[in-house]
Amino acid sequence: MEWLAKVHLNNPEKGIQLMNSYMHDDINIQKRHDEFIENTVANYFLPLGVAPNFLINEELYTIPMAIEESSVVAAASKSAKFWISRGGFKSHVISSKKIGHIHFTFDGDQKEIFDLFTTIKNDLISATSVLTKNMRNRGGGILDVDLIDKTNELIHYYQLEVKFETCDSMGANFINSCLEEMSKYFLESAENQFDNSNTKLDVIMSILSNYTPECLVHCEVACPVSELIDGPDFSSEEFANKFKLAVDIAKIEPYRATTHNKGIMNGIDAVILATGNDFRAVEAACHTHASRDGQYKSLTHCDIKDGIFKFWIEIPLSLGTVGGLTKLHPMVQLSLDILGSPDAHQLMKIVAASGLAQNFAALRALTTSGIQKGHMKMHLLNILNQLGASDVEKEILQRIFSKSAPHHAEVVNAFNDLRSSSKSKIESE
Ligand code: MEV
Repeated sequence: MEWLAKVHLNNPEKGIQLMNSYMHDDINIQKRHDEFIENTVANYFLPLGVAPNFLINEELYTIPMAIEESSVVAAASKSAKFWISRGGFKSHVISSKKIGHIHFTFDGDQKEIFDLFTTIKNDLISATSVLTKNMRNRGGGILDVDLIDKTNELIHYYQLEVKFETCDSMGANFINSCLEEMSKYFLESAENQFDNSNTKLDVIMSILSNYTPECLVHCEVACPVSELIDGPDFSSEEFANKFKLAVDIAKIEPYRATTHNKGIMNGIDAVILATGNDFRAVEAACHTHASRDGQYKSLTHCDIKDGIFKFWIEIPLSLGTVGGLTKLHPMVQLSLDILGSPDAHQLMKIVAASGLAQNFAALRALTTSGIQKGHMKMHLLNILNQLGASDVEKEILQRIFSKSAPHHAEVVNAFNDLRSSSKSKIESE
């Protein structure tokens, strides 16, 4: 910390003071944070909010969300409240298989490598038996191994593709350890097999894939079109059609799809962070999934048929509720507690509902009042904090703007007016 402050900060003393002020009072908790990563110099706080009233598969949840962006939690809560009286969210896990690869090159006769693979396939799995014992006891383990020929796309390139069930853990370390163990056995077998020939097999790398197209969850909401609107400005039909068009635009226009999906990830990442999961892995998987047809598209879908409005999401979510940070980070434990200690499948269903809710709120606002109205209202406090407003000033200005969605400049003007009027009041007293 001293080195960092001395070498990189304009005001080292102030920097050290600031970093120290973000340290936890409990030295044991701080030690944990120090040890999560390397070269820890402080903690970095994010607010933890909750979105109540999520009815998912007839069960009521309050969803914890760790996020810095104003209006995301409000949007989720608003959607949840909207759908609670319309049947709630219906969510189910399609499958939870994870996947990993041993990427290798082989310059010999293709038949030889396929023959070798057929001979040693079961032994490859057995080679990991010590590593997989506990997981097998929990009902998981290695599901299958396949040899995939990729030589049409890259010269001499093949893969051993391994499928895993990792139960309630995300399983990244488990998968990578299994792959590395298998890879050793594979290499030894190849060396023995091709000992006296010029044929060469090289393992390039062994690693899980964060694209998990078979670790998939589906979540939907549906109601009669006539029950969609609860305001006077639009008819239900008009709203339903406009909403569907907004989704259709995100299906054919990558510029819009990127922002559309960003909004979905607002809801997803916040729960993933709160529950100690890997949001980069989920982001990567979702964006690959969004481009699986060769063009980046919306992750949500909308249909209007026989008077029924249906809106759904189907995404890959590789999540864990054991292992990783789950037992180590006290706030993660709190978040899982708020959710009623879900297993990985339940968490997948909850996270998908949060993403769908977020997208519903965004599209509902965009296709009716516009996004800024709600957003600026929520953002007002951030602007006032930037301006250094006191609690009394915040209260007055929040009251002034309670019925409107002020632009940044309007808030600044109102703040300056308030300041100068109270200054001149003090001066005249
Ligand atoms: C802002 O963080 C997210 C939105 O832009 C999403 C969207 O446009 O659908 C509101």
